Amino acid sequence: MRKNILAANWKMNTSASEGLALFNEVKSGWNADPGGNLICIIAPPSTHLSLINADSEKGIYCAGQNCSDQDNGAYTGEISAVMLKSVGADFVIIGHSERRSIFGEKNNLLKRKVDAAIRNGLFPIYCCGEQQGEREDGNQEDVVRGQLQEGLFHLSAEDFGKVIVAYEPVWAIGTGMTATPEQAQEMHSFIRTVIEENYNKEIAMDTSVLYGGSCNPANANDLFANEDVDGGLIGGASLIAGDFLQIAKSLSSSIP
Ligand code: 13P
Repeated sequence: MRKNILAANWKMNTSASEGLALFNEVKSGWNADPGGNLICIIAPPSTHLSLINADSEKGIYCAGQNCSDQDNGAYTGEISAVMLKSVGADFVIIGHSERRSIFGEKNNLLKRKVDAAIRNGLFPIYCCGEQQGEREDGNQEDVVRGQLQEGLFHLSAEDFGKVIVAYEPVWAIGTGMTATPEQAQEMHSFIRTVIEENYNKEIAMDTSVLYGGSCNPANANDLFANEDVDGGLIGGASLIAGDFLQIAKSLSSSIP
């Protein structure tokens, strides 16, 4: 079901005690949405998941930042969806651009990770987004279409309904160079069109599509004002509880 979602990707930051303190600060400042339409998803390093307590009553959930495509076995260093689920995660980020570029994860592997997540009861937050050169060449839509096609569109309509899409233009991640509200809206609307082509309009309108890339308290209002932007996947600003909660206020006030 389409929801407004503010997700925090802490990446490889915070010690266990710092992470616990940050989580508790966010949790205590988070105002539960009475309608249940606005939820918070925190993706800490996986080592912290068993230390923090999600609170679904308050609309606060936890996520892994990545998972293996396998459920268990001789895969040294990997963490499976089964394990994430066993320590309280309900969601998992798959295909973040840092996984794609630094760790060489390709769409065919990401597709198997999406399957592993769904098979084990986790909702995938599937990331897509073009690199700067791809946008300069005008190829951003083809790139995003390919990422969705190859990583997600094998799913049945029922399983696709469990997916959250996060559009994160690579050139905007950690650079301070946010997509303009127009660029975000244009791509989010395109993503919905591609979903409609592969499934149907109802499913396209029912999918939550989040924006990520240098989203902060100063630009959140303008980004979230767009009708196809259902929330954000926040990196740097999610490490400061006050900033993250301020972004949550922007999202909350954008809900009609
Ligand atoms: P920044 O908000 O730091 O640009 O990171 C975005 C991101 O990668 C979230 O997954």
